[in-house]
Amino acid sequence: MSNSAYQSDRNLALDLVRVAEAAALAAYHWMGRGDKNAADGAATEAMRRAFDTMAIDGRVVIGEGEMDEAPMLYIGEKLGAGGPAMDIAVDPLEGTTLTSKGGPNAMTVVAMAERGNFLHAPDIYMEKIAVGPGLPRDVVHLDAPMSENLKNLAQAKKCDVSDLVVITLDRDRHDHIVKACRDAKARIVLLPDGDVAAAIATMLPESGIDMFAGTGGAPEGVLAAAALRCTGGQMLGRLKFEDDAQIARAKSMGIADPHRIYRVEEMAAGNVMFAATGVTTGAMLRGVHRDGMGAVTHSVVTRSKSGTLRYIEAHHDLKMKPWAA
Ligand code: FBP
Repeated sequence: MSNSAYQSDRNLALDLVRVAEAAALAAYHWMGRGDKNAADGAATEAMRRAFDTMAIDGRVVIGEGEMDEAPMLYIGEKLGAGGPAMDIAVDPLEGTTLTSKGGPNAMTVVAMAERGNFLHAPDIYMEKIAVGPGLPRDVVHLDAPMSENLKNLAQAKKCDVSDLVVITLDRDRHDHIVKACRDAKARIVLLPDGDVAAAIATMLPESGIDMFAGTGGAPEGVLAAAALRCTGGQMLGRLKFEDDAQIARAKSMGIADPHRIYRVEEMAAGNVMFAATGVTTGAMLRGVHRDGMGAVTHSVVTRSKSGTLRYIEAHHDLKMKPWAA
């Protein structure tokens, strides 16, 4: 890579933070106001506007839906002011209900890679399992019983199974995971929403989370894979189909084997960048808070090329950003 391409890559990662910040400021306006669609719409619009200032020839591959169902950030939408051909994955507001109810852990999420490097995941469910960096490859597996995954993980981390903490969404479909963890004497954290944050928690030693397991959105799976790819974490994902129409849709999006298990590097390949900004405070990020005439955001940004994980606190003058006030 030439020096100028290297610099441009680093700058793009910081631009990506600005995109996540803009969406968080806009979503925060709706925090606790009971209108999740308004919060999502505001985040989407702000994110869309911010992308257009970036020096990229961008294309949305994970977005707000199909062109006929989403006015902005729809799959296939072109973004940016011109530059290198990049693919973009977004969740303008991860945790729409959390935001509307003022609950913890809502954030805005963006990832970017050179064209052709993200899995084109349809908006269906995905089974997922993730662990952090520095562990033997395949220490956990989607098809292994939870008891075996816990045993192998405890062995690799040189601790007891009872020291392990697993995180999953609080859903009836996860009852078997909860039972298997408790039977094995491991502990389990149940989240109301937000499985991108849950997967990312495994890569942060200070989170106290050792494993994420469960079924959530497939687009959220690709975004979590992008983050884990940058820091060396592991995640496996398998699309979960409810009917033949979903299989047909996946095939039309280029997925040849609908039952394939994807690794992190197959969901997010190439040079990946990932950024997220807190909307409400969670394990990784502080939420937006007002500060006089301004607002403070807390973001994380990471790139697969360097592996650096950088936290950024930004103080915004809302007079310059009337759309966020
Ligand atoms: P929203 O941002 O659309 O509210 O999604 C939150 C979320 O919890 C995701 O993190 C997760 O992947 C998905 O919903 C789980 O779906 P479901 O609520 O159907 O279990």
